[in-house]
Parts: sequence; C-alpha cells; structure tokens
Amino acid sequence: MMCAAKLQPTKPSKPTKAQGQPTRGKTALNRLRRIDVYVALAYTNLVRLPNALVVDVGFGAQAWTTLEMAARWQPLNPTLRVLGVEIDPQRVAAAQPYAVPPAITFQVGGFNLTDLIGAEAAHLIRCYNVLRQYEEADVLPALHRMSCALAEGGILIEGTSNPSGGIAAFDVYRKQGGSLQHEGLIFGTNFHIPDLPAAFQTILPKRLIHHMQDALPVAFFAAWQRAFAVVRGMGIRSRRTAWIAAAAWLISNTDFAIDRRLRLIRRGYVCLYTPLP
Ligand SMILES: C[S@@+](CC[C@H](N)C(=O)[O-])C[C@H]1O[C@@H](n2cnc3c(N)ncnc32)[C@H](O)[C@@H]1O
Repeated sequence: MMCAAKLQPTKPSKPTKAQGQPTRGKTALNRLRRIDVYVALAYTNLVRLPNALVVDVGFGAQAWTTLEMAARWQPLNPTLRVLGVEIDPQRVAAAQPYAVPPAITFQVGGFNLTDLIGAEAAHLIRCYNVLRQYEEADVLPALHRMSCALAEGGILIEGTSNPSGGIAAFDVYRKQGGSLQHEGLIFGTNFHIPDLPAAFQTILPKRLIHHMQDALPVAFFAAWQRAFAVVRGMGIRSRRTAWIAAAAWLISNTDFAIDRRLRLIRRGYVCLYTPLP
C-alpha cells in the first residue's frame, strides 16, 4: 500500500479526519509494562536514537500507558519524545495537564498518523488493546496506515493483554525497504498468571484470534503445552523456572524458531519468529 500522505512534506493546513472509531477506553496502571520492558531490552538502540519520536496510539481513558512509556524509556534517552494519540477528544483533553512538551505530548488523531506528524517519521509506534475492538478485516489497513508514519527501520507493535497486563501477546513489525515486515510474535508474562500457555490463546493479536484452530497455531500451542507438561513432570513448581525450562524444551525439541536469549526468557518473554502464519 502506498503511503500517499508521506509524500506531502508539511503538515496539512486544515485538520483531516482521524481514521478509526472511538472504542472503550479501559486501561490500567502498568498494563503495558511488559511491552515497555521488552522494547527497552530488545530494541535498546532504537529507543536511544537521538530525538527519536515514539507514538502510543489509543492510550485510553487515562494517560497512564503513555506516561509510563515515557518514564521507562526517557531515562535511557533524555531526548526521546513521546506522543500519545487518541481518537476521542475528551480523553486527549483529560491527558493535557500531564503533557510536558516537547518530551511528552498528546494529540487527537487516528491511524493516519502522517496527518499529525507531517514530514517527521516515528521510530516506534505502539497500538495496544485497540485493534481487538475492530473487525479482523480492519487490521491490515490500519497497520499499513500507521506504518506510513514510520521511519525506515522503525518498529510497529500491535497486540493485546489481559486487563491487568500480567500477560501480553504482541506482533512486532519492522519497516524495511518501505514496507512493513513481520518480525516476531512475542508472549510476555509477569509470572503471576496461572494456566500458561493456554491463557495466551485468549489474548492473541486480532489477526490471529479467530485462527486458533488453523494448523500452525494448533501445532505451536500443542508443543508449548507439551513443554509445560514435561516440566511439571520434572517436579518444577516455580512459575518462573517452569517458564524458562519450557522455553528451553521448545527450543531443543521443536522446529519453531524461538529467540534463545536467556536474558529475555528469564524476564518472561518467549519470542516466536516462525510465522503463525
Ligand atoms: C481499550 S483502550 C486501550 C488503552 C491502552 N492502550 C491500554 O492498552 O490499556 C482503546 C483506546 O483506543 C482508542 N482508539 C480506538 N481507535 C483508535 C484510533 N483509530 N486512533 C486512536 N485511538 C483509537 C479508543 O478511543 C480507546 O480509548
């Protein structure tokens, strides 16, 4: 899909309509901590880019997720600018007292982020617990529309979590050669949520949630279930130790491409690079 708006070098003179629809604004303190921490660990160089712009699309009824993103990443990069975007003007008005321009700003907008940031390009866009409230057919157009505002090499994160954020599942896409490439599907836990990995099946990104019975998702979750069963059979009871051991079992006993970095697995992340599809 062409990013026509990106061809225009300056901000449009009159406001354009925000693309998308207002949805429930429910959020929670620390709900997106798993994603903030993952990005800080796995994409440190991106977060550290001088004057980088990161965008939190659909921050919800309170500005917490945007403010926490800033609190977690700006210590790594004091020049980082964080922009919270909401399609609901009242939610943006409620967030404005927390703005600290240019480090933290809030704007009314939709998936057509180029209409907000003009010729500038974002290095990271996060759209979390937003597309779950849309139709599946809306997902690809929304991702492509947002990606028009991404810098080459920048990443787009789209995913879902449970209400507290104790578990999260998200796709990471990277803009390469002008188009969006799927980089991986990440599962994150704070180790407090029982019934893993089955619990992840209820919070998959929108593009997958209706495809749980397709061959590859079935095979992946069956293998992961088996890994946990083997681990339980070894008498491992600690959730963190079981998570690490199950990931090791998956890596050693299946053909699924899983990130082997222990520093990510130990922190509660399994990063799957095999497309599902
Ligand atoms: C459930 S809240 C998610 C809040 C927060 N991101 C979280 O994960 O807790 C979804 C928010 O996305 C907003 N939203 C929906 N479509 C949008 C769009 N196209 N652009 C910007 N915001 C949008 C809704 O107005 C709503 O406040």
